[in-house]
Amino acid sequence: MRAREIKRGIYWVGAVDWDRRLFDELIPLPDGTSYNSYLIKGSEKTVLIDTVEPTMEHVLMARLDDLGVKAIDYVVANHAEQDHSGVIPAVLAKYPEARVICTPKCKGLLMDLLRVPEDRITTVGDKESISLGDRTLEFIHAAWVHWPETMLTYLREEKILFPCDLFGSHLATSALYVTDEGRVFEAAKRYYAEIMMPFRTSIEKHLERLKDYQIELVAPSHGPLHNRPEFILEAYRKWVLEPPENIVVLPYVSMHGSTRQMVDYFVEALIERGVMVKQFDLATVDIGKLAMALVDAATLVVGVPTTLVGPHPLAAYAAFLANALRPKTRFASIIGSYGWGSQAKERIIGMIPNLKVELLEPVIVKGLPKEEDFRALDALASTIAEKHRNLGKATA
Ligand code: FEO
Repeated sequence: MRAREIKRGIYWVGAVDWDRRLFDELIPLPDGTSYNSYLIKGSEKTVLIDTVEPTMEHVLMARLDDLGVKAIDYVVANHAEQDHSGVIPAVLAKYPEARVICTPKCKGLLMDLLRVPEDRITTVGDKESISLGDRTLEFIHAAWVHWPETMLTYLREEKILFPCDLFGSHLATSALYVTDEGRVFEAAKRYYAEIMMPFRTSIEKHLERLKDYQIELVAPSHGPLHNRPEFILEAYRKWVLEPPENIVVLPYVSMHGSTRQMVDYFVEALIERGVMVKQFDLATVDIGKLAMALVDAATLVVGVPTTLVGPHPLAAYAAFLANALRPKTRFASIIGSYGWGSQAKERIIGMIPNLKVELLEPVIVKGLPKEEDFRALDALASTIAEKHRNLGKATA
């Protein structure tokens, strides 16, 4: 297996995982992923930036062997999660002079998670740099992209940013660089929604700090490299900073058709009022698509039937997920049906404390919806359209 040269003395030595379909046994990977690792040769020191998922150890080692790497001085661990750090112990064994460079928090995690010996680790402070001879690495502490220990690494002379998870995408491709921005936008948005969105406020600060750096290439640890950095930086600014759009995200489940009748009617009522809708059947949904929809939506409405007095478990899952992802959603409501008694509404509301939303009057009905219930759905749709207009978002 061959290393791929990015610039003179700078190589991609990562692994493409074409066949992986789940991350954390939870997150769908419809397009696979990659674990990007980079080797930089300075005139005096050689450094490896991040490693790969442990199942891909042989790939990383083969690429290093292809380059004839006899010594590595530093292994930069931008992030302790095992898809990037998992092969550090093997690299340290193969290159006995190598030292791990990481943040103080990362040091503890590497010792806990991988049993990396303390005497092989050097910690670096925010904005500290190390010289490779003719090249310089600067370390930018950037907590919560995606764990608290994370940092970004900046190669000053070539103006390359190695941000690990940040700006990444789960996308297996033979292209080293972004070639199809539309496709990468979708993959990067999915990645942002699933991994980064809960840390929006931290990312906002990091984006501000990155304005101080000239960046000619963004080399993340998942997905293709960005040789037009403004593309991904601009996308992140939109997702993180801009107000939500005139969109209702409507995840729902229906057991016997009553909630489904309400959903069908409600979607039409929203469309008539100029509100865009993204509807997801929770029985079959790709949760990545649901997460992506939450990136931009001003309103979340959960369609929930009652089972065993509480919310159907799939609706509870959607509420749990939205609460965990902390989107910039401003409004929320609940619609659904029950047979003889229900606490579905109260329990769903109790599950979304992280969402800083205004709760709009839910519509919960007994059995099949009646005429008055459809009028209540009309009223909810009108309220949403008005709220969206007040956000400055055009409705038809
Ligand atoms: Fe790609 Fe947070 O690891």
